[in-house]
Amino acid sequence: MFICVCNAVTERQVQAAVAAGASSLSDLEAQLGVGGCCGCCRETAAEYLPGGRYAGCVTETQSAGAFENDAANDDSLQPLKVVAVSRA
Ligand code: FES
Repeated sequence: MFICVCNAVTERQVQAAVAAGASSLSDLEAQLGVGGCCGCCRETAAEYLPGGRYAGCVTETQSAGAFENDAANDDSLQPLKVVAVSRA
């Protein structure tokens, strides 16, 4: 699923950035370009940050090639999956 249509940033890319330490929209914008164009995605992207609705989503590497076709413009995309969602 795309979070940022303007920059073709997927949910998995956002989850991976947060798992790697991104903790603000500024971090996501700097790393992925999220929110840097029309800004429509900013509210949704924020839900993946610590304290957000989807912050409990945990990503984990799957077998190679599992998501080969997720983002055709991202050569560095790592195969990830959501393994748990925690809602308080
Ligand atoms: S949808 Fe993300 S900047 Fe437009």
